[in-house]
Amino acid sequence: MKAIRVHEFGGPEKMRLEEVSNPSASPGQVVIQVKAAGVNPVDTYLLAGTYAFKPSLPYTPGMDAAGVVESVGQGVTRVREGDRVYAGGTLSGAYAEKTVCSELQAHPLPTKISFSQGAGVNVPYATAYRALFQIGQALAGEIAFVHGASGAVGLAAVQLARAAGLVVIGTGGTAKGRELVLREGAHHALDHRAPDYLEHLRSITGGHGADIIVEMLANVNLGKDLALLAPRGRVVVVGSRGPVEINPRDMMGRDASIRAMSLLVAPAEDLAGIHSAIYAGLENGTLRPVVGQEIPLADAARAHKAVMEPGAHGKIVLIP
Ligand SMILES: NC(=O)c1ccc[n+]([C@@H]2O[C@H](COP(=O)([O-])OP(=O)(O)OC[C@H]3O[C@@H](n4cnc5c(N)ncnc54)[C@H](OP(=O)(O)O)[C@@H]3O)[C@@H](O)[C@H]2O)c1
Repeated sequence: MKAIRVHEFGGPEKMRLEEVSNPSASPGQVVIQVKAAGVNPVDTYLLAGTYAFKPSLPYTPGMDAAGVVESVGQGVTRVREGDRVYAGGTLSGAYAEKTVCSELQAHPLPTKISFSQGAGVNVPYATAYRALFQIGQALAGEIAFVHGASGAVGLAAVQLARAAGLVVIGTGGTAKGRELVLREGAHHALDHRAPDYLEHLRSITGGHGADIIVEMLANVNLGKDLALLAPRGRVVVVGSRGPVEINPRDMMGRDASIRAMSLLVAPAEDLAGIHSAIYAGLENGTLRPVVGQEIPLADAARAHKAVMEPGAHGKIVLIP
């Protein structure tokens, strides 16, 4: 089969499409015929070799895939050959024609969700769900500010928060991104490139501020976020690309808190709850992954460049 292989850390050009042997399923494992693989910013950090976690070389990138179960190992009962599934992480890498995951990483994909959409389920929706509900403890009736809503995690957060009865305000850096944010359920969309957009947030909320902020670029925004919080407000840091200065006094008078998360360290029992909630949302139509670009697997380098560029409008997926 064909797979993207990385033999040394570096930029997108380090990914090469190679012929490798077909995988097989050991006990407790599942082989998925990949129909689409999701591209996440973390894939680029891992490839650079500068992330907290370093894969051992050579490796195949990718944590998210959707496809059909080709075979299952001994003892697997959750899925069967021929099932449509999305992978919540893989053991062998998703940028390939086939991938191996553990039984617990294979989740059913409702028929109304396409494989390309399925490749945008795991990291984006699991992250958004964990940020909003497990870490941020978002409640119906609260005001959620999704700071960076036009990308994959942001749109997932908008759909989840809207379905859970929050008032949702999202940001996008382009008109196309903001249109998408509104279409996917935000009550208001603001431009995070406009000089006065945070003033708009204050006026939209009648001076109350945000009860919960899901933050995609904390190194730019965290200091400003704290001053936007309502009493007992929470910022959940999802993305950050560097250090930032904050004024703790902005938190003290509000009993506010900064929380943070990495999906990579979420405990198994929390992940099980997350994927049950995601399945329900995919099935009942409240969760609808938005595919922004489909790119051939051989062009993985182009996908890695695109995912780091501004102007997000949904998920970038690779098609083997
Ligand atoms: N903690 C975790 O476990 C976890 C899991 C998944 C992702 N992440 C991180 O979360 C971030 C978002 O991931 P993603 O997959 O959604 O990426 P993505 O699809 O590339 O989206 C990036 C988002 O950030 C927005 N953005 C750009 N400049 C901004 C600014 N100044 N203020 C606020 N938002 C801004 C983009 O908006 P425009 O392009 O419209 O400007 C877009 O909405 C990444 O940093 C990623 O590494 C963390």
